[in-house]
Amino acid sequence: MNRLVYILNGPNLNLLGKRQPHIYGHETLTNVEAECRKVASEHGLEIRFHQSNREYEIIDWIHEARETAIGIVINPAAFTHTSVAILDALNTFEPTVIEVHISNVHKRETFRHHSYVSLRADGVIAGLGIQGYSLAIQRIARLNETKK
Ligand code: DQA
Repeated sequence: MNRLVYILNGPNLNLLGKRQPHIYGHETLTNVEAECRKVASEHGLEIRFHQSNREYEIIDWIHEARETAIGIVINPAAFTHTSVAILDALNTFEPTVIEVHISNVHKRETFRHHSYVSLRADGVIAGLGIQGYSLAIQRIARLNETKK
């Protein structure tokens, strides 16, 4: 049975831990990946974890996920607020999509209040730090269980 979840991260998230730690915290993306792998394995799920600063790579991973995955957890970072192309790609993906933001985007600049990705996401988590990723995986696991 398919148990694969894609975890996709947008631009500048490779600098997590070094980048504006007062907003994004001190944990690195490597820490996030380790936590995601732990939570996924507790639920019998497998993950593909990716980060890119290039919009097309994120789109290509979404296309790849169409063939193989039961869900996508995506932190599109700045592409959240700009990318119709990522929205269009997500609209080709049928299973669950959870949008995650480490910071509470609604408490920040007004340009961060609008998300193209939210027009597709089944759920949105913002402001819970990197814990948001684990909660998103748990949600996908739960939905997958109840489908059986
Ligand atoms: C972010 C919020 C975005 O507005 C910002 O561009 C990011 C990270 C977050 O995780 O809080 O790069 O998605």
